[in-house]
Amino acid sequence: MADRSVIFFASLTGNTAKVARRFELVFRRNGWHCDCFRIRKTADDILRPAFDPKDYDFVCVGSGIRSHLPYNEVLNVLRRFRLGGDPRHALRWRDETIPYIDEPLPDTPPPWRDSELIARHRKIVLGPTSPPAVVFVTYSGYEFGPREAEPALSLLELEIEHLGFRCVGRFSCPGRFLDDPTPLAYHGDIRDRPNEADLARAEHFLEERLRQLGRAGS
Ligand SMILES: Cc1cc2nc3c(=O)[nH]c(=O)nc-3n(C[C@H](O)[C@H](O)[C@H](O)COP(=O)(O)O)c2cc1C
Repeated sequence: MADRSVIFFASLTGNTAKVARRFELVFRRNGWHCDCFRIRKTADDILRPAFDPKDYDFVCVGSGIRSHLPYNEVLNVLRRFRLGGDPRHALRWRDETIPYIDEPLPDTPPPWRDSELIARHRKIVLGPTSPPAVVFVTYSGYEFGPREAEPALSLLELEIEHLGFRCVGRFSCPGRFLDDPTPLAYHGDIRDRPNEADLARAEHFLEERLRQLGRAGS
């Protein structure tokens, strides 16, 4: 049976989706089964996702960036998988909620009571047998360039490693933001990004990871 990969990502203006589609192409070209899900701001996508990362041998998770962080919807679906329930229970500890979900929050279920919480916290050690993952973002980086992608990549990596996947790579590239050449910005004019060179780099990035893992096709 073919190895199974899943790509899930949030993309508001389509930049991150372009990278996701290239990754999909690379998996298929290498003989992998690949499912691709664009996470939207809906109760169904967050509370009742159509897939479970545990069913896959390789996971890719991606997002655009707003205010230095990955999009809320991709973080929330990752929290949903990590917590095994409605992420709004945990968000309450941060004085936050998910404004686009108007379904009432059920009473606090068992995993959120103290004794269960203590029991579920344990050290996670990832090793060579842990299934691999990569994280990816597109960003504008107007002020600091690639450094601006780092917090979002780190957060995606931490969440995916919480699910037992070993992050074997991070990919980022600029993505169109303002309809302006922004000549004073770090990357200059990014209105055509991700461009073909960025997407070729994305393909090469994933090909390399598959090759290093010994999972590239012939
Ligand atoms: C409201 C808004 C806030 C943004 N904030 C950041 C930011 O803090 N850092 C950054 O590097 N890019 C930022 N960006 C740029 C986007 O992350 C970038 O355009 C990305 O490619 C969008 O991805 P998408 O098309 O997949 O949604 C912002 C864009 C918008 C519209």
